[in-house]
Amino acid sequence: MTFTVTDLDDRLAFGSSVTGLDPDTLDDPAVRERLRALWIDRGVIVFRGVPGGTESQIRLSEVFGACEVHPLRPVDAVSAPELSDIRYLPEDGDIFTVDGEPRGGWLPWHSDLIYVDSINHGGILRPVRLPEHGGGDTGFIDQIAAYDALPDELKERIEGLNVVYWLQLDVSTARFVHVTGLECVRLRSSSARIMDNVDTFPRVVHPLVFVQEETGRKVLNLSPWFAQGIEGMENDEGDELLHRLAEHAVDARRAYVHHWHDDDMVLWDNWRMLHSASGVHPDDVRHLQRTTITGDYALGRIELAEGQISHEMRLNV
Ligand SMILES: [Fe+2]
Repeated sequence: MTFTVTDLDDRLAFGSSVTGLDPDTLDDPAVRERLRALWIDRGVIVFRGVPGGTESQIRLSEVFGACEVHPLRPVDAVSAPELSDIRYLPEDGDIFTVDGEPRGGWLPWHSDLIYVDSINHGGILRPVRLPEHGGGDTGFIDQIAAYDALPDELKERIEGLNVVYWLQLDVSTARFVHVTGLECVRLRSSSARIMDNVDTFPRVVHPLVFVQEETGRKVLNLSPWFAQGIEGMENDEGDELLHRLAEHAVDARRAYVHHWHDDDMVLWDNWRMLHSASGVHPDDVRHLQRTTITGDYALGRIELAEGQISHEMRLNV
């Protein structure tokens, strides 16, 4: 093996750092297998100093699964179709007030694509332009550790429950994102366009707990952003339970915060980790590109309207 693996943070049970990876070795089955096993085991891999830019980012992503074109990709995007631009510009970008401070490109804890029925397995982020005035960090929190830390009473109570999600890009209206004084100052133009057509996105449902197939470990599968409520319990009792779980899921003691360097690439397991973006000063610029690694745990589904029956139910009658 040509690369070195170390723990990302001694405090945490997830996350590895890989140095010395030569992209020319990515066709070697032993290298691919070791990287895939590391991804499943550790949830986040920070690759440092991999040469080759965009091409290496896409080839490395394909070790873990095929890359898909993101469903919210703007039609006028100019980068390779495998890449999504995560960009904040002073003239066009989301700005939220968080703890009394305006932040450009801030994102709360979430899972990508949880608002559709087929949630992607992961992604690799790579910086194109980092902010000049600091910030712009990416946070990760392990939901296997979050599940393990739940009291037994809660583990029993949530087994078999499902959460309803819906696309909502104005985070200030997200009921289960617990941030004091959160206000939307501006939505970027593409977000505003998507929200004009949000009714074309149906509500979807994902299980609150699922088992990581390769290891048997249980994951607390809750994205506070986009969550609408517990299926069949969209009432005070269900909301109280979901607020409690959302607070638990984002406990900063289980978080790793990545401070970016130009030659970093960060891979994460989107089925297991929540992630967030700290944002930048509104006058600054930040641009990263992300691949979307496919996969389907086949546990999500579109919510059925009253009176509709699912394909499976139809087969049973
Ligand atoms: Fe994201």
